[in-house]
Amino acid sequence: MSREGLIVALDFDSASHARALVEQLGDLASFYKVGLELYAAAGMEFVRELLRRGKRVFLDLKFYDIGETVKRAVAQVAHSGATFATVHGSSAVMHAAVEGRAGSPLKLLAVTVLTSFDEDDLRDLGYPCRVEELVELRVRKAMEAGLDGVVCSPLEVTSVRRLAGPRAILVTPGVRSAGAAAGDQKRVATPGDALRGGANYVVVGRQITRAPDPRAAARQILNEIEAARTG
Ligand code: C5P
Repeated sequence: MSREGLIVALDFDSASHARALVEQLGDLASFYKVGLELYAAAGMEFVRELLRRGKRVFLDLKFYDIGETVKRAVAQVAHSGATFATVHGSSAVMHAAVEGRAGSPLKLLAVTVLTSFDEDDLRDLGYPCRVEELVELRVRKAMEAGLDGVVCSPLEVTSVRRLAGPRAILVTPGVRSAGAAAGDQKRVATPGDALRGGANYVVVGRQITRAPDPRAAARQILNEIEAARTG
């Protein structure tokens, strides 16, 4: 069974909770996403622990700041040995991020429009456009800025793939196996749908991390990934 394609989101409030899940999953998962909660709780020390355990790390901190700050923060992430990092998809931020990772293998992914945002949220920001229009604009800008890929909803992955081209790395959270609880997510698709639509990686959190049997839940997702790749 290929482990490639699954990123497990370590949305935990402490290193010890996250570590317990990593140990439980063992060789079923080799790529982990560290987001704001765990980063705030356990910081780069836990990122380095994952790397020492031979895991790959997606550091999902969605940087958005003045260029110099983004550049310097990305340089720190690049030195850490993380594989993926996210920045918001504004051109100034993305150009700074590309400068910051210069010479390192860190892959930079753009957050186009937060998937929790709808048109009212965009209007609140002062952007009088449809969500799809802003996603499209930001995907194009991300590719122009030299980013490696995009984080997107599985429901928009087909159009993002068309815009971003065959080499872009597309990572889709918001996936659930058919029949699994959707939690607070409203717009979900299955891992198979995401991959068939053009995603390279799916990010799965609670379906695995809050499962009574996380290993069984991970196996189910890996089987679905395999079926989508060979089907
Ligand atoms: O819902 P689940 O627990 O699988 O979410 C996994 C991760 O994906 C979380 O870290 C969450 O922040 C992220 N996510 C996202 N966009 C969504 C849904 C979830 O970035 N639409």
